[in-house]
Amino acid sequence: MHEYFLQCQSQINLHLSMCLPGADQTPSRLHEAMRYCVIDGGKRIRPLLTLATAEVCGAETTRALPAACALELIHAYSLIHDDLPAMDDDDLRRGKPTCHKAYDEATAILAGDALQALAFEQLASGGDYDDAARIQMIRELSKASGSLGMVGGQAIDLAAVGKSLTLSELEQMHNGKTGALIEASVVIGALAGGETRQDVLATLRHFAKTIGLAFQVQDDILDITSDTQTLGKPQGSDIERNKPTYPALLGLEGAQSKADQLYQESMKALSQLPFNTDKLNAIAAYIVKRQH
Ligand code: IPE
Ligand code: IPE
Ligand code: MG
Ligand code: MG
Ligand code: MG
Repeated sequence: MHEYFLQCQSQINLHLSMCLPGADQTPSRLHEAMRYCVIDGGKRIRPLLTLATAEVCGAETTRALPAACALELIHAYSLIHDDLPAMDDDDLRRGKPTCHKAYDEATAILAGDALQALAFEQLASGGDYDDAARIQMIRELSKASGSLGMVGGQAIDLAAVGKSLTLSELEQMHNGKTGALIEASVVIGALAGGETRQDVLATLRHFAKTIGLAFQVQDDILDITSDTQTLGKPQGSDIERNKPTYPALLGLEGAQSKADQLYQESMKALSQLPFNTDKLNAIAAYIVKRQH
């Protein structure tokens, strides 16, 4: 399975490099910053989920590549903005200075904006998808990225700094800021893979919701248990900024058992699907067991 992950990652990296404008193209500082933030580093979990879902639905891996890269471009933009001084104010990302440190704040804002637009361009023009699937994919990604998805979760996160949230408020925040894009990664993978059965799409969506929430619970845990070098981003950032997190609310053990419970639920969803889901089982296991 490790081989499979590496093979997908290298296909994703190649496609990302091809779809980003060259650093010599005007405005070159902006293009350089976009490439700096997207190429190198990053586990590529979201595009990996898209490729693997398309594959378990019966498609060739490469079929979902443009759609998979759209997910990574939105994710990369969200990280650039998440690190800005007005948001989490972090200096390190993927083992390198954050975009606003390596360039400047205005360039970081614009690089994020342009990556978001490029993601939708990829989805609208890349690949060989039928029109209905393409429109559905664009709808999924726009909803997952917007105020009822990732951006909404980020807004709740920022408004909650220093306050205590209830468990259901915390869950709503995590489902938005991280869960929504992970859900879209899976559903878009299924659509790119030609899946149209509503019951199958609903079960895949349920799988993605549970593993998407588990992903952010594990991110919160690693902020405490890991170290800056392993993470490639500052360890202890949440505590320093008094962020609402699962360990803050449930304790470290409580958060770990929540991640495990969500993982079990995601496995149950996969077991209900009418095809072999081994690749998705492996990615889900990686999400809750990862150390960075
Ligand atoms: C970090 O995401 C931000 C969250 C949504 C938790 P990843 O852990 O997937 O970051 P990269 O892409 O591997 O750098
Ligand atoms: C980030 O959550 C979520 C998004 C970027 C949408 P975090 O703020 O916890 O992510 P890290 O820990 O900085 O990667
Ligand atoms: Mg944040
Ligand atoms: Mg952050
Ligand atoms: Mg975090």
